[in-house]
Amino acid sequence: MISGITGQDGSYLTEMLLEKGYIVHGIIRRSSSFNTFRIDHIYNNPDYLNSRFFLHYGDLTDSSNLNRLVEKIQPTEIYNLGAQSHVQVSFEVPEYTAEVDGIGTLRFLDAIKETGVKTRFYQASTSELYGKVQEIPQTEKTPFYPRSPYAAAKLYSYWIVVNYREGYNVFASNGILFNHESERRGKTFVTRKITVAASKIILGQQDMLSLGNLDAKRDWGYAPEYVEGMWRILQADRPDDFVLATNETHSIREFVEETFMNLGEEIVWKGNGVDEKGFLKSSGKEVVRIDPRYFRPTEVDLLVGNPAKAKEILGWQPKTTFRDLVKIMVASDFEKAKKRSE
Ligand code: NAP
Ligand code: GDD
Repeated sequence: MISGITGQDGSYLTEMLLEKGYIVHGIIRRSSSFNTFRIDHIYNNPDYLNSRFFLHYGDLTDSSNLNRLVEKIQPTEIYNLGAQSHVQVSFEVPEYTAEVDGIGTLRFLDAIKETGVKTRFYQASTSELYGKVQEIPQTEKTPFYPRSPYAAAKLYSYWIVVNYREGYNVFASNGILFNHESERRGKTFVTRKITVAASKIILGQQDMLSLGNLDAKRDWGYAPEYVEGMWRILQADRPDDFVLATNETHSIREFVEETFMNLGEEIVWKGNGVDEKGFLKSSGKEVVRIDPRYFRPTEVDLLVGNPAKAKEILGWQPKTTFRDLVKIMVASDFEKAKKRSE
C-alpha cells in the first residue's frame, strides 16, 4: 500500500514492486484535473490493472478513510510517501502541511495499531530534519534542527514512528532520504526547474530562468535508486532508521552550470547578491537572474549525508553521480521541449 503514489517516488516504487511480483494498492486524492500522469503507463497496462494494481481514493487528512483502507486491504507493507512536499510552500500553508506531513503519519500508524493488521511501515523522512546542520556529514546520530514548517511536521512524523515502534511493537522505519531527483521530479523543485528552463532557453522557447538562493548546497541522488532503498529498509530484520544519500554536495549554481554545459553552453556570472546574473559565454545573452520571491524565510544552507549504515546493514549504495544525474534530466527535458510534449 502506497500513499503518494502519484508523486515522483510513488511512481518509481510502484514500478519496482510490480516487477518484484507485489500487488500494489495506491491512494490517490480526488482532483478536478488529472493527477495520475506519472502512473498512467502502469494503469493502462492490462497485465496490471485490476489484478495486481489497484487505486483507491483517500487522503492523509482523513482518518476514517485510512482506517477503512488498512482494514480492507490488509497490506503487508505500507509506504507513506504522501506529503505536501514543497518546503517553500510550507511557509504559505503551515497548518495544512502539519496536518498532512505530521498528523497524517500518526493517522496511518494508529490505523495499524487499532486494526491490528500485521504490516511493515515505511515513513518518508527527510534530510530537511537536519536543517541548520549540527554536523557534517549528517548521519542517523546527527541532532535535528528543522528550518521550515515542512521540516517541523516531518520531525513529528519521525518521532511518532519511533514511538509506535517502541511503544506498540509496530514494524515502523524512517528512511532519512537526502534530495533525490529524476526526469519525473516536480517542475517547481529547483533541479527540474533548471533542466526544463535551460532546455527551453536553448530552443528559443523561453527567455529567462529566475532563481532564488544560488549558494545553497544539496546532496542530490537519483530517485529510482532511492525507492529501492526504501524497499530494502522494510526487508531488514528489524525496524530502524537509515540515511540514504550520496555523501557529495553541490550548489544550485553548480547545477545551473552543469545543466548548460550539457546543452553545449558555458555560463558566466556577473554581479553580486540579488543583482547577480548568468550569461551565455558564447553570445553574451542574459539567461539567469535572481528573484527574491524564491528566497525562504529560513534557509537550509548545506546538506550532505553519510549512508554508511545503509551500506553496511542493507547493502544499499547510490550509483548515479551528480554529473550523470544532470545529464539524464537534461536529455529528457531537452527531448520533451523539442517535441513540446510537456
Ligand atoms: P511529490 O512528487 O511531491 O509527491 C507527493 C505525493 O503526495 C503526491 O502523490 C501527492 O498527491 C501526495 N499527497 C499530497 N498531499 C496529500 C494528502 N493530503 N493526502 C494524500 N496524498 C497526498 O514527492 P516525492 O518527491 O515523490 O517525495 C515522496 C515523499 O518523500 C514525500 O513525503 C516527501 O516529503 C519525501 N521526501 C522527498 C525527498 C525528495 O528529494 N524527493 C527527500 C526526502 C523526503 P498529488 O499528486 O495529488 O499532489
Ligand atoms: N524550489 C526552488 N525554486 N528552490 C530554489 C530556487 C527556485 O527557484 N532557487 C534556489 N532554490 C534553492 C532553495 O532555496 C533550496 O535551498 C534548494 O534550491 C533546493 O530547493 P528544492 O529543490 O525546492 O528542494 P528542497 O531541498 O527545499 O526540498 C526537497 O528535498 C527535501 C530533502 O532534503 C523536497 O523534495 C523535500 O520534500 C525533501 O524533503
